[in-house]
Amino acid sequence: MGEEDIRQEIENLRKQLHYHNYLYHTLDAPVISDYEYDQLYKRLKDLETLHPELITPDSPTQRSGGAPLDKFRKVEHPTPVLSLANGFGRQDTLDWYERILRLDPAVAHADYILEPKLDGLTVVLTYEQGLFTLGATRGDGLVGEDITENLRTVPMLPLRVPVSGDMKAPDHLVVRGEAIIFKEDFERLNAELEQRGEKPYLNPRNTAAGSLRQLDPSITAKRPLKIFVYQILVSSDETPDTQSGILAYLQELGFPVNPLSWKAANIEEAIRICEEQAAARHTWPYEADGIVIKLNDQQLARRLGFSGKDPRGALAFKYPGQEVETTLLDIQVNVGRTGVLTPLAVLKPVSIGGVIVRQATLHNFDFIRDKDIRIGDQVLLKRAGEVIPYILGPLPEKRSGSEKPFPVPSECPSCGSPIHKDPDEVAYYCLNSSCPAQLVRVIENFVSRGAMDISGLGSQIVAQLVENGLVRSAADLYALKREELLRLEKFGEKKAENLLQAIEASKNQPLERLIIGLGIHGVGEVAARKLARTFQDLDALSRASLEELTNLEGIGPNIAESITTWFAQPHNQELLRKLREFGVWPREKSESPEQTAAQPLQGLTFVITGTLPNLSREQAEALILQHGGNVSSSVSKKTSYLLLGENPGSKYAKALELGIPMLDENGLKTLIDK
Ligand code: IVH
Repeated sequence: MGEEDIRQEIENLRKQLHYHNYLYHTLDAPVISDYEYDQLYKRLKDLETLHPELITPDSPTQRSGGAPLDKFRKVEHPTPVLSLANGFGRQDTLDWYERILRLDPAVAHADYILEPKLDGLTVVLTYEQGLFTLGATRGDGLVGEDITENLRTVPMLPLRVPVSGDMKAPDHLVVRGEAIIFKEDFERLNAELEQRGEKPYLNPRNTAAGSLRQLDPSITAKRPLKIFVYQILVSSDETPDTQSGILAYLQELGFPVNPLSWKAANIEEAIRICEEQAAARHTWPYEADGIVIKLNDQQLARRLGFSGKDPRGALAFKYPGQEVETTLLDIQVNVGRTGVLTPLAVLKPVSIGGVIVRQATLHNFDFIRDKDIRIGDQVLLKRAGEVIPYILGPLPEKRSGSEKPFPVPSECPSCGSPIHKDPDEVAYYCLNSSCPAQLVRVIENFVSRGAMDISGLGSQIVAQLVENGLVRSAADLYALKREELLRLEKFGEKKAENLLQAIEASKNQPLERLIIGLGIHGVGEVAARKLARTFQDLDALSRASLEELTNLEGIGPNIAESITTWFAQPHNQELLRKLREFGVWPREKSESPEQTAAQPLQGLTFVITGTLPNLSREQAEALILQHGGNVSSSVSKKTSYLLLGENPGSKYAKALELGIPMLDENGLKTLIDK
């Protein structure tokens, strides 16, 4: 293939990839499968590897962002990036209207475009000859920071416009938009963080802003950022002279434009829409603290000029009462079902947006310490969207001196046992496996399918057993009597008999299942298997030192500490004593650890992606582990093989990039049978 053909093919691939990326991320309407996309991407990547001189900054392969920076470069905006005057409610809006009407009688016949006022980080995007060349924060409106590499990682941001079609982009174009995180993505992100014991984010807005101000673009790349563009700041071409025309034009170029906006024929209609949307906005996928009312006629808007930093042609209709002040009466500590202690603010009741709020989350104990929140403080409270109300911080200037700092409790408020914190986590845990606040959850985990697999013990029955005092720890299950069960509501002979049989049968579960059942923080399937193989019974495991545990592959210092702390708890020792008494004391039957060394996959780390023809993901994992291999969830240089199924995800691209060998299901089986 000649140089020119290659250039052509590369160009063609880029066009296709840009277009499919746009269909997927901006229009949410893909027309090819992820697999097909990955194939195109791989072809481009391969060509670029052979011809690095043909790589351009707008290539879809360059989205991963550049190398980490020391600090952000300052950039001067080509034109001031103005802010917006606020109005609260009908009267403010009418006052604004009267003011601009006095300045220009044409306002009397004006129509308006209304857009959600997105609560995120304002970004200024520059395109030269259609290529994305610079992305900056707003900063003070005159000078911002260069966050180009971070913005490149946002899938919705076009690296080149037009994305498709044969429209011509202006040679020089600067647009303004808002980077945001959708509520759903925010909640998912926080749930993941909490599961890993990391500090959750306070709200989508701070998270969006924080994510774009990361010096390492690979961190930004992991955040679910989205962008909507709504204004042209500079263009070398003529641009439409209405806001509705501008939105349509931006959209046609392939910019992400918020699908939600309204047209109002006059100011009364504009106000009516804003009022109507006050409730509806909670159903929008992102947080918005108001609606921007814009004169549709851009020439009129320009003629009106500015008042200070605010253009007169637009007004933010803000929804009132989102942040209020009240007194923090007390801090209550709740023990969640996983044993995490969470502080809850007890407030002097206050109304926010028509809802009376008496309680609010304080996130975690670090937050209370960092913000120096004291009982008795006046605090600022926010209720955003449907997210539960949260405390923004105290108002120290309003202190009388009688406010009391709140220390982290030293014991569990539910059962009184000492509490524990991993050094890398923010959460404090109660480690007592029989803590009443956690008991139902602990038992649920104990009987679950991945653990002791006792069928017939659904949540309701577990709750019933706990409420009736029949079960105070997992071991009590083995002491349950037929007559006791028969006395419970909805329990007949048959049901009681089946349950007792299932409980009895669980005594034969292998050690690793029992270890999972103990619910030691951080110990999942993989760690449990390793522990069972190494120590062979709970006696040996309970005597294991921190050092011995840390030396095991796959067990880090935090898990090791969590294990030793768990076994040191008197409540847990009591649980073990009872389990042994009831004969629930499995010994590992498999070979001793020395023998396992001969296994075919020993020392190999696998990452699984896509759907395998015969094995489920769990089965494939189990197979690998059984034969001495390890399974990891992300591709790195340490990965030995990528086990590749159909419709692979991003792990596939990563593995290609790192040159990791790949196997299919048959390949894995061959490796095992060797
Ligand atoms: S228009 C000349 N439209 O709100 C008009 N601003 O309080 C200038 N914002 O930082 C802004 N969504 O970036 C406009 N649909 C929208 C917006 C919006 C959010 C931001 C804006 C500014 C802030 C002003």
